[in-house]
Order: sequence, then structure tokens, then C-alpha cells
Amino acid sequence: MSNGYKRLKGFADLYGQEMAAFSQMENTAKAVFSRYGFKELRPPLLEATELFQRSIGTETDVVKKEMFTFPDRKGRFLTLRPEATAGVLRACAENGLVRSGSVTRVFTIGPMFRYERPQKGRMRQFHQINCECLGAESPFADAELICMLLDFLKRLGLNKLTLKLNSLGCKNCRAAYHEKLSSFLQQLDENELCEDCRIRAKVNPLRVLDCKQAKCRELTAEAPKLLDNNCPDCQKHFNAVLELLASQNIGWEIDHHLVRGLDYYKRVTFEVVSDEIGAQTAVAGGGRYDGLLGQLGGPDLPGAGFACGMERLALLMAEAAEPGLDFYLLALEDRLLAQGFVLAENLRRQGFSGEINYRSGSMKSLMRQVSHSGAKFCLLLGSEEANAAQITVKNMGNGEQFSVEQINLATALGQALAK
Ligand code: HAM
Repeated sequence: MSNGYKRLKGFADLYGQEMAAFSQMENTAKAVFSRYGFKELRPPLLEATELFQRSIGTETDVVKKEMFTFPDRKGRFLTLRPEATAGVLRACAENGLVRSGSVTRVFTIGPMFRYERPQKGRMRQFHQINCECLGAESPFADAELICMLLDFLKRLGLNKLTLKLNSLGCKNCRAAYHEKLSSFLQQLDENELCEDCRIRAKVNPLRVLDCKQAKCRELTAEAPKLLDNNCPDCQKHFNAVLELLASQNIGWEIDHHLVRGLDYYKRVTFEVVSDEIGAQTAVAGGGRYDGLLGQLGGPDLPGAGFACGMERLALLMAEAAEPGLDFYLLALEDRLLAQGFVLAENLRRQGFSGEINYRSGSMKSLMRQVSHSGAKFCLLLGSEEANAAQITVKNMGNGEQFSVEQINLATALGQALAK
């Protein structure tokens, strides 16, 4: 399109097979999550910038480099949400959806925005299915979230995935670990670390473990491990989660470098990764974030959650079929269009899906419309059929056809579809 508008870099139009995969994910998520007591919530896409700075952390890549932030007409800074957790917690606190002594479970589905370098599986506007469980400190909550996530993924037909786990510790053990990690990092040749990690090593050493640069990864391979430095309570919590997962025959890998890219995590963190979608391997990630709700103005309750990246899941679900239409009803003459309209309406009321033509044309162009629609059966209404109160049913897969009385059309189509 020479004079037309183009979509922005890293932004996509969703249609066809990818859209079909999105619909399948959304329907499956709603079905699976509701069985665990999760309710849907839709917070706005735009929030005050400070909400994300406070929750995600000012030293994270997301806040430092990736947010779409701009002033509104009154000069207040706003940000298109780079993730859902902060907005969901703000919404729960603001609307009184969380109360001490009870557990609130919510999920949200929608677009997120990060100014990253676009590549396969990495977009500037991407979509997440995001779950949060607020008010439960128990390891049952962590384990239940992971089971629910894996059940959801399994129902999408995704089996070749790996669950990675780590435990980041709590405020009691994290400070001592930070010191250990800092002294380890100080012993390294600073110039060998990437530019970002040189800063990270000073202001937020945990972030160095998360660096994707091969050299930084190599240098930190022998760094002190979080799990070796968890306090007894954190260890107990982590082991309880592992036991619950084992009780469900769920396998996992421990990843000592799994610190997640957002600062709010404590204790159990996890990711689900695939080696089939290129460099961007994480299809889902999450963990516990006790303290975050209180930090955002809500009651001081614990919480945990996860989010799946829908674009990445869609890459794995290449097989997701666009729902095919049951019929395409073709009225072959203009005077038969109204009769075709009535027949098609009757079929739709009985649960069949289908399209009709709005005007007649050459058989060739009409049949092109039918094949383009992807309908399984073509219902032909010509003058011969109309005079005999019949209709011809043509199987678009194998070309077989038969005639049927119009009053028996629904039954005949139902039987033909069931074959
Ligand atoms: P996250 O790991 O930043 O976590 O994102 C979760 C998932 O979103 C990733 O595993 C990935 O599949 C997808 N994702 C992230 N960035 C992109 C991108 N640029 N393009 C395509 N997909 C992407 C969070 O956002 C946390 N809020 C998850 C959470 C919820 N933790 C607790 N509750």
C-alpha cells in the first residue's frame, strides 16, 4: 500500500490462524481458571507511571528502557501497562476486592506494551493471560497456580514444555544473599561484564543473574546460589511447593539464575519454557510477591501469580484451526435470495453456522466465494430446487451431493456434518 497507513513496528494485526489460537486460549483459560475459583477483571491499559516504577522497580529493564511513557495534556506522566500485575493489584486495592482473612483470585486477558527490539515472539504490543491469587501465604497457593497453569497449557495441546523453578528468599534472607552476591561480583573483572551489568552489580545485583549476554552468564555461572541462602522458612515453603508438585507427577528443573525481570518477586519464582520458538523461550512466568499489595496502597496481604505470553503460545499452537463454517447457502438467482435468507436464518437458529450470498452471479464466481468461506457444505438453491421445495447439499470436501426437502434440511445437514 503506497499511500496507505502502516502498522507500527512491533505492533501486529491479529487475524486468521493466530486469532483462532487467541480465541482458543481465551476460552480455555476461562474454562480452566473458573474451576479454580478465578474471576475475570479488566483494569485499564493506561495507568500513572509511578505505579509501575514502584512495583516493577526503577532499576529493571522494563521500567528503565521499555515503557511507553508520555505526559497527558496536564503534564502528568502516564504509561501503557508493560505488565498486568501492578494494575490488577491497584484495582483490587482501590475497589475493596481484597480483605484480610480471605483469598481473592482474579485473571485478566489483554494487551501489554514494552518498547523492546521486535523479533520472533517479542513484540512491542503483546498479549498476556494473567492470574493473581491475593491473600494466601500458603505453599498450596503457589502449587495450585502452577498446576492450573500447566493444566491450561496441556489443554492447548502443549506438552513439550519445561517448568523451571527457583526461590528468591524473603526480606529476612535476601539482604545477606545480596551481600554475598555483591562481593562475588566485585571480585570479577568489571570490564568483562556488559555495560548494563556494571551498573546492575552496584544498584541491583540480582539483576546481573538475569542478564542474557553470554559473557555475563559465563562469569556468573559460579555465583552464590539463592537456594543455598534461603532462610529456613523460605526453604520450608519451597520444599512444600515441590512436594505438592510431585504429588501431581509434575516434573521441574531448578534454575539458579531464574530471578525474573521484575523486582517484586519473593520466594518461589517459576517459568515455563519451550525450545521450539527461537530465542524467546519463556511462554509463561510468575511467582510470589508478598508485600507488593501493601506497597501499592492495599492491605498488607501476600500474593502470587503468573502470566502467559499469548503470541508465544500461538507460535506453538500452529495447528489451531480457524472454526470452519457449517454451510454456505447459494441462491443461484436474484429472485431466490429471499428464500435462501429464510432457510439460512432457520439453520442458524438451530445452531448451525453459515453464510449466504447477497446477489447472484456466475457459477464460477459464486463457487469461489464458497471455497473462500471454508464452509464444509454448500447448499445450492436453484430454480429446479425451489420449484420442488428442495435444496442440494454438496460436501465441499469430497464433492458428493444429494437433494433434500427444505423442511428436512436441518436434520440432513446435521447428519452430514456428524459423518
Ligand atoms: P513476564 O515474565 O515479564 O512476567 O511476562 C510473562 C510472559 O509474557 C513471558 O513469559 C512472555 O511469554 C510474555 N512476554 C513478555 N514480554 C513479551 C514481549 N515483548 N513480546 C511477547 N511476549 C512477551 C510478567 O509480566 C508478570 N507480571 C507475571 C506475573 C503475574 N507475575 C505474577 N503475576
